[in-house]
Amino acid sequence: MPRPDLTLEQKASLLSGKDFWTTKAIADVPSMLLIDGPHGLRLQDAEGDHLGLHDSRPATCFPTAAAVGSSWDPDVAAELGAAIGREARVAGVTVNLGPGVNIKRSPLCGRNFEYYSEDSLLSGTLGAAHVRGLQGEGVGASVKHFAANNQETDRMRVSADVDERTLREIYFPAFEKVVTEAHPATVMCSYNRVNGVLATQNRWLLTDVLRDEWGFDGVVVSDWGAVNDRVAALRAGLDLEMPGTGGVTDAEIVAAVHRGELAEAVVDRSVQRVLALTGRVTPATGTLDVEAHHALAKRLATECAVLLKNERNTLPIAPEASVAVIGEFAVEARFQGGGSSHVNPTRVDTALDAIRAQGTSVSHARGLDDNAVEIARAADVTVVFAGLREIDESEGYDRDTIALPAGQVDLIRQVATVSRRTVVVLSHGGVVSLEGWHDDVDAILDGWLLGQASGAALADLLYGIANPSGHLAETIPRRLQDNPSYLNFPGEQGHVRYGEGVMVGYRYYETADVDVRYPFGHGLSYTTFETSALSVTVTGDDEAQVSVTATNTGAVVGKHVVQLYVATDAGPVRRPARELRAFAKVALAPGESRTVGLALGRRAFAYYDVELGRWVVAPGAYTVQIGHSAAEIVAEAPITLTGDVITRQLSLDSPVQDWFAHPVVGPLVLRRITESMTEEQAKQADDTPDWLRMVASLPMHQFTRFLAMSGAHLPDDAFAELIDLSKN
Ligand code: BGC
Repeated sequence: MPRPDLTLEQKASLLSGKDFWTTKAIADVPSMLLIDGPHGLRLQDAEGDHLGLHDSRPATCFPTAAAVGSSWDPDVAAELGAAIGREARVAGVTVNLGPGVNIKRSPLCGRNFEYYSEDSLLSGTLGAAHVRGLQGEGVGASVKHFAANNQETDRMRVSADVDERTLREIYFPAFEKVVTEAHPATVMCSYNRVNGVLATQNRWLLTDVLRDEWGFDGVVVSDWGAVNDRVAALRAGLDLEMPGTGGVTDAEIVAAVHRGELAEAVVDRSVQRVLALTGRVTPATGTLDVEAHHALAKRLATECAVLLKNERNTLPIAPEASVAVIGEFAVEARFQGGGSSHVNPTRVDTALDAIRAQGTSVSHARGLDDNAVEIARAADVTVVFAGLREIDESEGYDRDTIALPAGQVDLIRQVATVSRRTVVVLSHGGVVSLEGWHDDVDAILDGWLLGQASGAALADLLYGIANPSGHLAETIPRRLQDNPSYLNFPGEQGHVRYGEGVMVGYRYYETADVDVRYPFGHGLSYTTFETSALSVTVTGDDEAQVSVTATNTGAVVGKHVVQLYVATDAGPVRRPARELRAFAKVALAPGESRTVGLALGRRAFAYYDVELGRWVVAPGAYTVQIGHSAAEIVAEAPITLTGDVITRQLSLDSPVQDWFAHPVVGPLVLRRITESMTEEQAKQADDTPDWLRMVASLPMHQFTRFLAMSGAHLPDDAFAELIDLSKN
């Protein structure tokens, strides 16, 4: 509702923060509290900062997005979102700053622990579930960082130079899904430039795409300190600037309106949105159930860890086995990342304590300077806790290697030489290389960053109290150099060129047939699963209904992820070898079968056509594939789609092949050209059946000029009528 009672000055000051985390209370408009996110609350009572430097109130640290990504389970994301929502209500929070749905373009991005996946469907599905859970508790979400914020290096200035098809197919869909399906209260726009224009001042991004195409009607909030030119940002569609600037930028808005450079209606529009958001302000209510949330954090963590390798059934560990536990992280858990998402946990479980509670004979050494080799030699099973230290990866900077610290590789290798069975448990936010030690060990359990209950969750998984059901949300390559962004990360001289286009992560590895250590989607269990009875029915407007049966063929209860990929080379653009288009996680008792139905909408088959400026389903052949990972397809079914009939408008600049391919104009133009040929040209054409191929890429005006030079009669204006015909 319009607020004629507010002065221009008051309205302008509603559009920026009062301080780090709150907005201003003006007249009867209440102040809002916006705090991080995304895997726990970071509420600072004293000094505020957005880099995780100062203390915050204790809150439950849930599994990070890198871990939740590996759960492949929207219920995990939703439960986590709802729990954060409950904690936020206790603290009187209006908006919690998450989830982050940026795509993991490079394994080096320092903030990958805060993002879900290299795949946009997985990221978008989990992000949407998180938002539903959070907002179901009445607390607003802030899906971030829009858009193309895929690195930390030079993050406040760098221009992500990305072609539009790649933006639409890879970097936008997770945001699009969250916005259109879960309706987040706010979208946080990123620090970086997108194709030269700061995200905060990018009208195409913030208004044309976000609002006009996707129908977003909430508040666009800046990332903290991202605004360069307040008036330009407001014009582009950025409503709320955070944190506050002491009124400096509010005054700039007022002055711009007075100078006639900014319509007051633009201010009013953003004020309306901010006022609507203040409807979510509620006083702090209730108390935090620390124990219940810790137990939840543990249960969710067990859903996330990925069993990468398990030779000789080394895991689960029998309770009577003697176990040597080795490594720093067994006693000082590594469970979250550094920066603005850093949570002050209510308590922390350590793996050593939890293992001691399960096993009968447990010894421990921190590293090689202790008696690690001796205790490993004596034990039935050795479990090495390895990974990255918090300082190795963080918001604010990227890594320059994916290697594990050399000391840890050394430790693993020396221990593996003497131990009867070696298990490695990994804790890290971004991908770490397994090369140099992978073949020396029997089992690898990848925990990513599992939150404050990681120690207890890992112990449950090691002893089979819980069955691992996580799957990789990103590829583990053999070498950093194999990653498709390798030559274009993190860019140079202010630009990072997304030269790999849509071939991000597994899309590249599968298309270029590059061998990887573990593919996207990989994950083992203590039971086994089989896939059968795949059936695909094409329905309606290039959509399909898929049904497939999953069976637990092993001896224990487990969860299986049905991964559905679509493969095609239909259409005029290069398609990835396969793309994840649907998935479902199902719990199965031993011997149990479940039939899973998955719906594929048009978008599952479409590519973004930059010439037409829209999604197109190309007519042709498609294969629906069920995979145990992106590299292991276990069932497939071919289908044919009618697709969209595309008649591209022709001009004299269009290549000859487009003219001939046009369903109406093609036959006419071929006749006209043949008729205009001299006898000699016609004979030559007859003698050279390939002539059409040879001239296919010539623009029509060049082609007619060549024909004319050798005597054919084909004036440019002879085509005017055909060009008109092509418009229909
Ligand atoms: C981060 C955001 C965060 C904000 C507030 C920024 O540095 O990029 O993700 O929400 O700070 O702490």
